[in-house]
Amino acid sequence: MRLYLIGAGAIAHTHAEAAAKLREPVELRVADPSDAARTAFLAAHPSARAFRTAEEMLASEPAAPGDIAVVATPPAFHSGPARAAARSGRNVLCEKPLAMSVAEAEEMLRVATEHGMLLGSCSTRFRGLPHTEAVKRVLASGALGDVYSLTFVTKWPRSRAGIEYQPASRWFLDSSQSGGGVVMDWGPYDMSTLFDILRPTAVEVTDAWIAQPKTGADPTDIVFDTESHAGATLRFGTADGIVHVAFERASATHGEEFARAELSGTLGSLRWTPFDSQQPVHLRTDRDGEPHEEVVEPPERDDLTIFDRPLLHFVAAVAGEPSLASLGRDAVTEFRCLRAIYEVAATGRPARVEVGG
Ligand SMILES: NC(=O)c1ccc[n+]([C@@H]2O[C@H](COP(=O)([O-])OP(=O)(O)OC[C@H]3O[C@@H](n4cnc5c(N)ncnc54)[C@H](O)[C@@H]3O)[C@@H](O)[C@H]2O)c1
Repeated sequence: MRLYLIGAGAIAHTHAEAAAKLREPVELRVADPSDAARTAFLAAHPSARAFRTAEEMLASEPAAPGDIAVVATPPAFHSGPARAAARSGRNVLCEKPLAMSVAEAEEMLRVATEHGMLLGSCSTRFRGLPHTEAVKRVLASGALGDVYSLTFVTKWPRSRAGIEYQPASRWFLDSSQSGGGVVMDWGPYDMSTLFDILRPTAVEVTDAWIAQPKTGADPTDIVFDTESHAGATLRFGTADGIVHVAFERASATHGEEFARAELSGTLGSLRWTPFDSQQPVHLRTDRDGEPHEEVVEPPERDDLTIFDRPLLHFVAAVAGEPSLASLGRDAVTEFRCLRAIYEVAATGRPARVEVGG
């Protein structure tokens, strides 16, 4: 299999490491205009062939079935390279957030479909973790009864990409390059997890807000216009009814560090810690009129890291195997829900996203 990495920065290294864990041997190609990024990439992966531009790389040899291009550039440079890769006959796995706008995402899907290529999103980085699989299993068993609400909150006091995390990549802080702040950076994983658990048929964002808490570490010499704290209330329409979702995410907050997911139904509730917390899942039910709590045994943990997962899910999908990949219309729908959070925060009016349309 051949893997074409567009961008040779931090995340491209992780995709190359994931490729080494695949069953089949992988030939690596990489394109990045930065000499420093190419040099560092080749030092870590000496067998790779490096190019200055994606166009040069994609035109360097004819496409073969099973070729995969990974778009690993800042979001402002997702759509163009993704479309070019699909036009060249490569399946495209795009980093999160999928694009800068809904129009860009739709155009990426249109071009991929027109050329018979799969479009996947790296929003699936946290899919397949034991705690989420345990939640899905209990939910499917019916043990929770009619499920009506989900609280999904992860707040970190100081974890902003471009400041506390990966400070060299300042583009995270400029919405004209990143598409937005924590909703574009962490929201894709949250939305992808919510879709995996709840399998909605429609999503309505009924209220939303975004904020940029001020800190002594805020840069003043560059554009810094991205939110680092956001929240939304959403109605997930599912085959079994409405699930009301209270969502909150912070990469900077003056509040306490807090991470909690709780799914409530008429017969029981599940509580777990989102992210790759490795914390247990708790099932609470009623026993003779009293609350009863037990720990749900999760499936065995595999040796994959969260950084391996997007590529491995996507490779399985390209091979036609069952996978947790987020593909095509589903990937665009998840992204539409995230953009809807900004729209509702700006207008104060609810927005509805149909799944599959
Ligand atoms: N860093 C992380 O931990 C992380 C985690 C998950 C996802 N991501 C996502 O991965 C993407 C890239 O982030 P990163 O952290 O690797 O950024 P980075 O700043 O480390 O690297 C980005 C690289 O892209 C290159 N580039 C820019 N335009 C290009 C183009 N047109 N063609 C080829 N290369 C180009 C830059 O020269 C740079 O080397 C973003 O969408 C980000 O959200 C990053």
